[in-house]
Amino acid sequence: NWTMDDFIGLQVADIKKTLGDKKVILGLSGGVDSSVTATLLHKAIGNQLTAIFVDHGMLRQNEGDEVMAALKRDLGVNIIRVNAQDRFLGKLAGVTDPEQKRKIIGKEFIEVFNEEAQKLHNVDFLAQGTLYTDVIESGTNTAQTIKSHHNVGGLPKDMHFQLIEPLRKLFKDEVRVLGEKLGIPHDLVWRQPFPGPGLGIRVLGEVTEDKLELVRKSDAILRAEIKNAGLEEEVWQYFTVLPGIKSVGVMGDGRTYDYTIGIRAVISVDGMTADFARLPWDVLQKVSTRINNEVDHVNRVVYDITSKPPSTIEWE
Ligand code: XMP
Repeated sequence: NWTMDDFIGLQVADIKKTLGDKKVILGLSGGVDSSVTATLLHKAIGNQLTAIFVDHGMLRQNEGDEVMAALKRDLGVNIIRVNAQDRFLGKLAGVTDPEQKRKIIGKEFIEVFNEEAQKLHNVDFLAQGTLYTDVIESGTNTAQTIKSHHNVGGLPKDMHFQLIEPLRKLFKDEVRVLGEKLGIPHDLVWRQPFPGPGLGIRVLGEVTEDKLELVRKSDAILRAEIKNAGLEEEVWQYFTVLPGIKSVGVMGDGRTYDYTIGIRAVISVDGMTADFARLPWDVLQKVSTRINNEVDHVNRVVYDITSKPPSTIEWE
C-alpha cells in the first residue's frame, strides 16, 4: 500500500519539523489509535516522547496490567503508569449527565498530564490519537455535537499544551493498515475500539465502584465467549452496559429485584455507522446464562438490536 508508506514518511518529517528537540507526552490507552500514534512519534523523535497510561478506575478487567505489559514489550516506548482511580471517581461522584461526565473525565486526564509533564520538565506538546471520526462527531467543524469524544470536545479551553494529532485525517480502518505497516503486533492492531472514558460511559448515569464492577464482570464474560466462538475479528466492537434499571425476577422460590445488563455488539468499518451484529443465539444464550449466574445483582440480560443511526455505538 504505497499511500500508507507515503503517509508514514510525510508524517515522520512533519512531526520532526513541528517538535524540533522539544519533549512530548502522549496519553496511551492501549488501543490501536494511541498505540499507532506512539509508534509514529517514537519513529520520528525517539526518546523525546514519554507515553502516559492513566488508570482512571474505569478500565476493563486486568486491562491496566495487560496493556502495560504489551506496550512496554512491543513498542519500546518510555511509558509511565499513573494510578488515578480515586481522583477520577471522586470527581464523577453524583454526576449523571453524559456530556458532563465526558467533560469531567477529559479535564481530569489533562490535569494528570499536566502533573506528569511538570515532573518531566519542559514538555510543550501533548500528542493524541484523535481520528477523523472523533473530530466530526465532537462537532468542532460542524454546528452540532453528537458527543464530546474526550480527546476532542472534552478538552478544557485553558490547556497549556500544544496538540499534535497525526491521525486526525484518518479513519479507524486506515489506522489499522498503518499499524500493520509500522510493525505493531497483529493483536494490538486488531483490538476492538475502547473509548477514552472507558466503562464510565457504559455505566449509565452516576458512576460508582459497585456499578463499574457489574459492567467489568459481565464484559469479561462477553469477551471470553466471543473469543471462544472465534468471532473476535468478525465483530467490530462488543461490550456490556448497565442501564441502571432494576426489574423483577425469580430465583428458586424467591422474588428478586435486580439489575439488567445490556449487550452491545456491532459490525462497522469506521464507527461512523454500524449495524448490530447477528450474534448466534447459542453464543448469546451462553453469555446470558453466565452473566446471570456469575454476576451478583443481575437478574436479566438484554440484547441491543439497534443500528447506528439512530443509536450511537456507546450508550452515552
Ligand atoms: P459512538 O458511541 O459515537 O462511538 O457511536 C463511535 C466509536 O467511538 C468510540 N468512542 C470514543 N473513543 N474517546 C474515544 O477515544 C471517546 O470519548 C469515545 N466515545 C466513543 C466508540 O467506542 C466507538 O468505537
